[in-house]
Amino acid sequence: MLAIPAPRRKCHAVAPCFPARRARPERVASDPSRSLSSPFPEPGRHDLDPFPPLKRDSVLPRGAGRRGAPSLGPAEAAKVAEILVRHADLPGNLLPILHDVQHALGWVPAGAIGQIAKAIGRSRAEVHGVVTFYHDFRQEPPGRHVLKVCQAESCQACGSRELTAHVERTLGCQLGGTSPDGAVTVEPVYCLGNCATSPAVQLDGRLHGRVTTAKIDALLQQARSQS
Ligand code: FES
Repeated sequence: MLAIPAPRRKCHAVAPCFPARRARPERVASDPSRSLSSPFPEPGRHDLDPFPPLKRDSVLPRGAGRRGAPSLGPAEAAKVAEILVRHADLPGNLLPILHDVQHALGWVPAGAIGQIAKAIGRSRAEVHGVVTFYHDFRQEPPGRHVLKVCQAESCQACGSRELTAHVERTLGCQLGGTSPDGAVTVEPVYCLGNCATSPAVQLDGRLHGRVTTAKIDALLQQARSQS
């Protein structure tokens, strides 16, 4: 007698092949006033940062804002404290604070990083990360004068590379360094908004256009004679 095969049973008729997708649990805000509808803080509630600070200070190189970094002198610490008070409660205050610290001290010392981090509720690693990400922030004290030489396209086309090489030879330091006598720090900058009169430089915040090697020598000599 011919055996009639039993009809194939659909496996999911009895039990699903795959476990049913579980509903994602609702995220519960630790702060009941925090809005879950948007990942961004409400206007005026910058303390509700959707990206909480990392606690990874141990990744910092020695002395770079870690505990035990050289501390600031009392005068410098007071200046930083005054800046922190001025920017307290402002949203996105880290960059303005760092700019003001650099403006006041000439650089952002490693000793200031802990003070800033504590005041704005961030980790030292985060503050250090911002300082090192933007090349505008100096991690070393600058010379008495700061010369910025534009390296962007228009100035390059008009001879800024040759000008930079001349400045490096004259000062005895590389771009980004300070002359051995501590008089001039030379830094790269990428467009000073003065492309029409390229090549452009900025010496102690003052813009100069159509700069030749003779003109830069005169500017440096004048700056050196003032200090
Ligand atoms: S490219 Fe040098 S000032 Fe714009």
